[in-house]
Amino acid sequence: MPFKVIITKDFNHMSEVAAQIVVKDIKNTLKNKDAYVLGLATGNTPVGLYKHFAKSANAGEFDCSKIQSFNLDEYVGLPGENAQQRALHPESYSFFMVQELFGLLEKKFKETNVPWGTLIDQESLLAELNVNPNDWEEQGADKGKAIVIKANAQSEYLAWIRREILDAYREKIERNGGIDLQVVGVGGRGHVAFHESGIPFEGNKMLLVKLDENTVANAVKDGHFSSKEQSPWYAISMGVELVYSAKTVLLLANGDRKVEPMAESLLNDPTPLVPISYGQIFSEKGGTMIYVIDKAAAKKVMENANRINQRGIDIENISN
Ligand code: GLP
Repeated sequence: MPFKVIITKDFNHMSEVAAQIVVKDIKNTLKNKDAYVLGLATGNTPVGLYKHFAKSANAGEFDCSKIQSFNLDEYVGLPGENAQQRALHPESYSFFMVQELFGLLEKKFKETNVPWGTLIDQESLLAELNVNPNDWEEQGADKGKAIVIKANAQSEYLAWIRREILDAYREKIERNGGIDLQVVGVGGRGHVAFHESGIPFEGNKMLLVKLDENTVANAVKDGHFSSKEQSPWYAISMGVELVYSAKTVLLLANGDRKVEPMAESLLNDPTPLVPISYGQIFSEKGGTMIYVIDKAAAKKVMENANRINQRGIDIENISN
């Protein structure tokens, strides 16, 4: 199935082109069925796409009330005494989505879902992990780890996280027929959502994650948190196997920081060290993989265009 890379001029052009792809997919899909499942991402990268998307929605190009959305991830350990406060924290991904998309829509989505990470109390989580070392294992390299809670966990709290927060989110997506189109951004080392570099691909559909230093450093650098100490160090996230179970995955990237993950994910064989490289496996299995990136992020992609073409990946350069 197709694997296409579209190289655009800049952030706004990337956002416009990506929004057109989403809107077209929604219109086409709604011709044949009465519901659309949209996968959403946070971060700076998709905010322009969301503005263009909201404009089309508010112009009546498609019916928002037929759309159900699922986000990729949510922090655990945001400041706040309870779930309500954590969800309303300005850096929560739930708050972000209201601010950057849901609040812009005149007619609301039928339903929105952001993984239920804010239900977890970080202190309780850390205490339970500490006193129940046999209930879980770490997977991954030194750069952020998946904390895999075992099926027979003795701790009621950990068993509840596995059942009601991780498994239940995946099951809800599956019950609704899977995601039609998933929007994703990419992290500094090529991670998707909070599936950090080095976490194995297989068997990790929903993750409880201890974040990578690099991810936390970028969150501080981008002004989301004042210091590494103030930043959450845990998250709930879809893993690559769930992200790439969508029918189409639309990856956006802009700016110099994304040069390496773009090149590595397209030039080399898939490896868990670069989670977005799973896109190659996804397209081989029949998924539609589309990158919409700006020319700054595409620097090495353009330099190596022939080698990338030889791997069966089409490049369309509309940046001039
Ligand atoms: C975080 C998010 C990812 C996002 C990444 C990059 O790690 N969990 O989903 O892709 O940041 O963010 P930005 O788009 O701001 O570069």
